[in-house]
Order: sequence, then structure tokens, then C-alpha cells
Amino acid sequence: MKFTLSAAVAVFAAALVIATPLTLDSEKRDVYVPPVLHPRAGTVWTVGRTRNVVWNVTNPPTSITNGIGRIMLRKGARTTPVILQANFSILLGQIQVKVPWVENGNDYRVVLFGDSGNFSPAFTITGA
Ligand SMILES: *[C@@H]1O[C@H](CO)[C@@H](O)[C@H](O)[C@H]1NC(C)=O
Ligand SMILES: *[C@@H]1O[C@H](CO)[C@@H](O)[C@H](O)[C@H]1NC(C)=O
Repeated sequence: MKFTLSAAVAVFAAALVIATPLTLDSEKRDVYVPPVLHPRAGTVWTVGRTRNVVWNVTNPPTSITNGIGRIMLRKGARTTPVILQANFSILLGQIQVKVPWVENGNDYRVVLFGDSGNFSPAFTITGA
């Protein structure tokens, strides 16, 4: 009986050791997609100028899956290969971009990537 009891205690202790890391590994990481505030509807950007992209960083989650931001240019329904900015902290809230040499259009959007993408409203880019 003594052997059986200590064996049972050993099994119980082993189960505790195995179970413990599972409960410690429960820290949650949040997908964070802050909304773009600028450019907005009615904004006109001129090719070659420097302009601010602004996004709302009020109340970010404490733990962010991907804190590195990237801003791409979108025209109509398609995201272009144009990278306006990359490798900045998504918590910055604003960053300057140089308006690229693209055709005139009133259906441009910037796409802010962190964990995921978030579009600005459509705005206009015109030639110099
Ligand atoms: C920014 O986000 C906060 C929290 O979601 C909201 O209360 C606030 O109105 C937003 N600010 C702007 C300018 O949209
Ligand atoms: C991104 O930023 C980090 C920190 O400033 C730097 O070490 C790294 O080289 C940058 N990467 C690129 C691709 O610019």
C-alpha cells in the first residue's frame, strides 16, 4: 500500500508540472488596426510634396502582435506596389510621406498596415 500511495503522489506531482506551463502561456496578443484620420475625403495631395499621414492611436491594446507599420498607396480597388513609408512604430500616430509621381486621380487611398490593413477614405492626387 505504501508503494501504491507514493506512486499516486508522483503521478499527481508530474501532472502538476505538465499542467503549469499551459496556464502560464495564456498571455493574449491583440490585433491592432488603428483608423486613418488623414488623408480624408476632400484631401488633395500634389505630386512631389511632403504630406502627413495621421492615424488614431488612442487606447491601443497593451500587447500588439505586429507593432511595425507600413503605408501603401491604393488606387480604386487595387493596392499599388508603391510603399510610401515602412518600418515605423504603429504607435507613432503620424508620419510624413513624399507624394509619389503617379497619374492624376480622385480614387487614391493610403493603406496603413500593422497587424492588418486599414484604408483612408478616397482622396485626390494631382500633378505639380
Ligand atoms: C480616436 O479613438 C478614440 C477611441 O476609440 C475615440 O474616442 C476618438 O473619438 C478618436 N478620435 C478621432 C479624432 O477620431
Ligand atoms: C527598421 O528599423 C530598425 C530600427 O530602427 C532598423 O534596425 C532596421 O534596419 C530597419 N529595417 C529596414 C528594412 O529599414
